[in-house]
Amino acid sequence: MRPNLRTTLLSVAAILAGCVLFRVSAQKPATGPDTILVKVNRPGGKISPNMFGIFFEDINFAADGGLYPERVKNRSFEFTEPLAGWTKVEAGGAEGELVIRTDGALNKDNPHYLRLRVYNPGAGFGVMNSGLRGIGVQQGAEYTFSAYVRATRNAPRTLRATLTDESGGNTIGEATLTGFGGGWKKYEAGLRASATAARARLSLFVEEKGEIDVDMVSLFPRDTWKGRPNGLRKDLVQLLANMKPGFLRFPGGCIVEGRRLELRYQWKKTLGDVSERRSIVNRWNDEFAHRPAPDYFQSFGLGFFEYFQLAEDIGASPLPILNCGMACQFNSSETAAIEQTDEYIQDALDLISFANGPVDSHWGAIRAAQGHPEPFHLKMIGVGNEQWGPRYIERYRLFSAALRAKHPEIALVSSAGPSPEGKEFDYLWSSLRQLKADFIDEHYYASPDWFLANSSRYDHYDRSGPKVFAGEYAAQTAGVARPDNRNNWQGALAEAAFMTGLERNADVVAMASYAPLFAHVDGWQWTPNLIWFDNLRSYGTPNYYVQKLFATNTGTRTLPVTINGSAENARQGLYSSASLDERTGEVVVKAVNTTKIARPVRIALEGASGVGGGRSIILGSADLKAENSLDHPSSVAPIESKLPAAKPEIQMLDPYSVTVLRLPYAR
Ligand code: AHR
Repeated sequence: MRPNLRTTLLSVAAILAGCVLFRVSAQKPATGPDTILVKVNRPGGKISPNMFGIFFEDINFAADGGLYPERVKNRSFEFTEPLAGWTKVEAGGAEGELVIRTDGALNKDNPHYLRLRVYNPGAGFGVMNSGLRGIGVQQGAEYTFSAYVRATRNAPRTLRATLTDESGGNTIGEATLTGFGGGWKKYEAGLRASATAARARLSLFVEEKGEIDVDMVSLFPRDTWKGRPNGLRKDLVQLLANMKPGFLRFPGGCIVEGRRLELRYQWKKTLGDVSERRSIVNRWNDEFAHRPAPDYFQSFGLGFFEYFQLAEDIGASPLPILNCGMACQFNSSETAAIEQTDEYIQDALDLISFANGPVDSHWGAIRAAQGHPEPFHLKMIGVGNEQWGPRYIERYRLFSAALRAKHPEIALVSSAGPSPEGKEFDYLWSSLRQLKADFIDEHYYASPDWFLANSSRYDHYDRSGPKVFAGEYAAQTAGVARPDNRNNWQGALAEAAFMTGLERNADVVAMASYAPLFAHVDGWQWTPNLIWFDNLRSYGTPNYYVQKLFATNTGTRTLPVTINGSAENARQGLYSSASLDERTGEVVVKAVNTTKIARPVRIALEGASGVGGGRSIILGSADLKAENSLDHPSSVAPIESKLPAAKPEIQMLDPYSVTVLRLPYAR
């Protein structure tokens, strides 16, 4: 699938021989060299080290079933249908009943539990859990099986967990809990999987007559990111860490808003012991009739503490987005009365204390009790997600006044609505400009052609006033939010071309993030997405590699670039941006060739000369339909090479490619 994409350079031998040579290229160039002129002597504004970040939302099973690696579905029996995910098992003549009860519940936020009532234990009476699209286990890996158990009078003395593979016939792991008393208590045991299975099942068996109560049934991997209990899925965090993202936006997205206010994201309810985090339905559960997911809930096992910790782990600045008193305007559009806005503002003020407050403050103490006495260094907060209209501006005004008065050090992200142009967009920009907003969050879900046509979008943006946060974007290869959108090279290449425009204008575009981030191959609602996974494996899409290339090759100052003497991007399908990396003494040039022919380019550094050497990183495919997959995760992936010590004059850009050159320079 992948053509030879290695850097095309004049070979050192050719330079020595004084000839102009081209490497063997996928296609012969049709034109003479284009000139990319980088004005090294005219460095522009600083590029924020946070510029390219990530957007996380619990959509597509991104949290439960994804980053949050709990294997048991509906562990607390709190789904609308309390036995969803669970089926009765009666082995060898066993007889009994599964009863959902609420009397004497574990706690107020976990009101339902399961009573196993056994009339005849036979070869085992119990209940089987299907997992979140199955249970993934790796051979030899250890898991913690745990449950809160309460014994009733004459209760069975043991609860045996067995893990069976897809066939249902092979037991591939076992653990037993015992020693139960009369009150709720958590019991746990280790379980080692003897085989790998992507869709195993977990069953709980009771082998004596009687009744026993269970809640918070969990099978959790021990090998989490940084080995933390209740930790995150390691391979997925690693993919994020590899991007070196500048910021982490969480928890969304529309999930912040909720379809109704009652179902909005409330960060305070996501802290503390996981058994006290009240589950609610996930808003993506039945948003799309063509991808229903009635079993999609939020356990909040991945809550605000874990988000902050994740941001810290991967070196990203935390960017929480909070509800501003408005439910999703695509759904109910329910809006809290203006007099109730204080409650929402208080949530924002308390969040700042939770993240940054001293340990002897109320919220700082709660953070410390969760294991993080040091502050999380929160510097920005989003007010609302994708809101629009005067109702939003009214509420933003109140937030802004209150937060600026108490926390002038915190920058605010405000919304430009769901569309990147139009009446609503213009209204929001002009209102927010008057309100002296810090960052305005623009969203673009549009065709690859839109991305190409908009690479110069910010070249003439007003430099005074608010900065742009390109907070959600992704090329939609088939149509906006259509299920047949693909994460193919066509979309990724168009995004790369567009991103040169973001980088060239880093003085006005302060941050940018692709969206959505994650999707389970069997559990998605929305496509395209940056990273796909199943229960065991994961891969970065071509779009992921574009994001990674930009995030890991951002200089410290922008440099003006022209293509064939024109500052206008693009010139016949070529797009470029450049920056100075003052930390490494390199000029970083990005060149995107969106044409199907190889393009020779002359890279000229004005006011400096290349000293030779350096590196090139090339990402591309001659096939615009090329994709990565679980089986072929690197069909489209960057290839890095050292540049020859003798300074090359001509760089050949492969057809349909993104080239990053890191060139040491001398003034
Ligand atoms: O990224 C998917 C959704 O698109 C986000 O939740 C929302 O903000 C946007 O409409």
